[in-house]
Amino acid sequence: MVKLPLPVIEAIRQSQHLLVLTGAGVSVESGIPAFRGSNSAGPDSPGQAEMASAAAFREDPAAVWAWYERRLQNVAAALPNAAHTAIAALSGLVPQLTLITQNVDDLHERAGSPTVVHLHGTLSASRCSICNQPFKWGDSQRPGETQVPPRCLACNAAVRPGVVWFGEALPEREERIAFRAVRDCDCLISVGTSGLVQPAASLPRLALLAGATVIHINTERIALKGPKEYALRGNAGELLPLLIRQAFPECFMAS
Ligand code: OAD
Repeated sequence: MVKLPLPVIEAIRQSQHLLVLTGAGVSVESGIPAFRGSNSAGPDSPGQAEMASAAAFREDPAAVWAWYERRLQNVAAALPNAAHTAIAALSGLVPQLTLITQNVDDLHERAGSPTVVHLHGTLSASRCSICNQPFKWGDSQRPGETQVPPRCLACNAAVRPGVVWFGEALPEREERIAFRAVRDCDCLISVGTSGLVQPAASLPRLALLAGATVIHINTERIALKGPKEYALRGNAGELLPLLIRQAFPECFMAS
C-alpha cells in the first residue's frame, strides 16, 4: 500500500476543525467532467463560458435553461464516488468538519455529508430571475411540459438556474461561513479544484496564512507556497479513502 507523507496523516488525525474544499475534480469519477485541467470536457463541448452569465440568459433564456437542464439530468443519473463517500465518512471522524464545495451537483449530500456549503449555488435551487422567489415545479408546471424557462408563480418573470454565474456575487451566507471557517480551521484539504476561480481560489492561501496545514489532492501538479502545504497527486477517489485509512487505522481494523 502507498504510504502517504506522515505530516499529512498527522495533520488530519489531529485536526480539531477540518475544512474540505471541493471542486469539479471530485465529481469526475462519477462521470461529470471538470471544466479545466485533466478530465475536463474539452474545447468542443458547449461551453460554461458561453452559458454561465446573466448576459447569456438575457440573450437566449431558452438555450441557457436547456443547457442547465441537461446538466441536471446528467447529475441525476450520476452516483457519488469513493471521494464523496470518504469525505462523508471524515465528518464522523474529526471533531468539526466544514465542507465547502464549488460544485452545483448534490453528490456530497447523496454520499451522506450532513452539511454542505454550496459556494456557487446548486442546479436544483432554481429561482425567479427578478423577485428571487424559489421555484418549485407545481401541478400546472412540469419539466418538459411548459414554457422554457418556466415563469415565476409570484411575478411571472423568467425562472433562472440556481447557480452563481460569472460576474455575480457569491451567496452571502455561504461566503460568510467559508471565510470564517478558513480563519478557524487547523487543516484544509483542497480536492479537485484548479484554483483559478475567485474568491474560492483564495481559501487555501488564507488558511495557510492563518496557520493551517493545507493539503491539495489533484491529478495535476500543484505549485506549493509554504512549509505547511502538501500536494498528493492522483485521483481523489483513490487518494481520499487511502488518506482516511492511514489517518484513522483503528476505524478500519478487522473485528
Ligand atoms: P476546474 O474544472 O477548474 O478544475 C478541476 C480540477 O480537478 C483540475 O485541476 C483537474 O486537474 C482536477 N481533477 C480532474 N480529475 C480529478 C480527479 N479524478 N481527482 C482529483 N483531481 C482531479 O474546477 P473548479 O476549480 O471547481 O463555476 O472550477 C471552479 C469553478 O469554475 C466552478 O465552480 C464553475 C467553473 O466555472 C461556476 O459554476 C460558478
